[in-house]
Amino acid sequence: MKKLIPFGKPLVDQKELNTVSKILKSGIYVHGPKSVEFEAKFKKFTKARNAISVSSCTAGMHLIYFTLGIGKGDEVIVPAQTHTATAHAVELTGAKPIFVDCDRNSGNIDQEKVIKKINKKTKAICVVHFLGIPVDLTKIVKVAKKKKIFVLEDCALSLGAKFKKTHTGLIGDAGVFSFYPVKHITTAEGGMIITKNNKLAKKLRVKKAFGIDKSFSERKISGFYDAIDLGFNYRMSEIHAGIGIEQLEKFPKFLKKRITNFNILKKKIAKLKNTLIINDTNKNLFKSHYCLNLVLKGKLKTKRLQIINFLKSQKIGTSIYYPQPVPRMTYYRKKYGYNSKLFKNASEISDYSFSLPVGPHLRNDQINYIIKKLNYIINKLNADK
Ligand SMILES: Cc1ncc(COP(=O)(O)O)c(C=O)c1O
Repeated sequence: MKKLIPFGKPLVDQKELNTVSKILKSGIYVHGPKSVEFEAKFKKFTKARNAISVSSCTAGMHLIYFTLGIGKGDEVIVPAQTHTATAHAVELTGAKPIFVDCDRNSGNIDQEKVIKKINKKTKAICVVHFLGIPVDLTKIVKVAKKKKIFVLEDCALSLGAKFKKTHTGLIGDAGVFSFYPVKHITTAEGGMIITKNNKLAKKLRVKKAFGIDKSFSERKISGFYDAIDLGFNYRMSEIHAGIGIEQLEKFPKFLKKRITNFNILKKKIAKLKNTLIINDTNKNLFKSHYCLNLVLKGKLKTKRLQIINFLKSQKIGTSIYYPQPVPRMTYYRKKYGYNSKLFKNASEISDYSFSLPVGPHLRNDQINYIIKKLNYIINKLNADK
């Protein structure tokens, strides 16, 4: 390969360029029709009752906790195996994130362990659909309903993923998506909240825009409004929303290619000795595979850097999802201490896995090239004395 095969790559073309150009020329950069249209199209795609655009997934999650009144003295259960944003969104409210280990095969939060952590202080449970593999939330939702605990789905990596035909984000009480450049679709930076709860949606709309009583279109006299509440500026701009509309239109094609790429890669590397592919064979799951995580076992455990560097030398981009269980990250370790025994599976994924690309940016010859190089290096290292 002459050029690097990137781990992730935003796919934009003339359509996004035309849209951005039109929006810039229109002079309407916020409070315009594009964010309304993007929300309506996202709502239709996911079959949600409400879709609320926000400036990022982190902002969306923080906004939800803040709106629910979660804060000091409260606890929110979160996975240890996730992006630090999942925990930060809780920490920013003053509440305490309670970390729970994951299942070693799927990387998804361990439901039994979640249930054991519930106590009087638990106000919410956040689950992450790790790498686009949906969590079967049946048990958590049942217990949470009984105890009036809010279930938030961090859907940063799960656009297109479903549980029994229900889109992720609609299984619990609310879900938040990310449109960061290498995600399933991008708006550069951006996020979307979906929820069945109309009352909550209404409050979120007010609090995402300074706690002001009237949206821009509701103001009869320009500049006439009142701040009825405390709020943020977590709005999505028209430029970002315009890109999102074009991306969502292309998404069914992106998703098909993503799943095909994952399945080809999985099939051709499944038999590699001393490796495990992160996955879940539960028939109720429709997975939207963000990437393919390969966990190294046995004698390969100490060879991760060697493999990553070899692939890099062959112009194959990789990544690590996620580099450390969040409670082991410096901020959380210093604040709450860290007990490695509690996060054995999350540590195993962080310490011994790496992530291979499966995005729609990959051509078939590139997938075959990755398979060939990966087979070569793993077989070689397995054979080494
Ligand atoms: C699971 C998870 N949650 C949240 C985020 C944060 O998303 P954003 O950058 O849109 O705030 C990420 C980012 O990669 C993520 O992987």
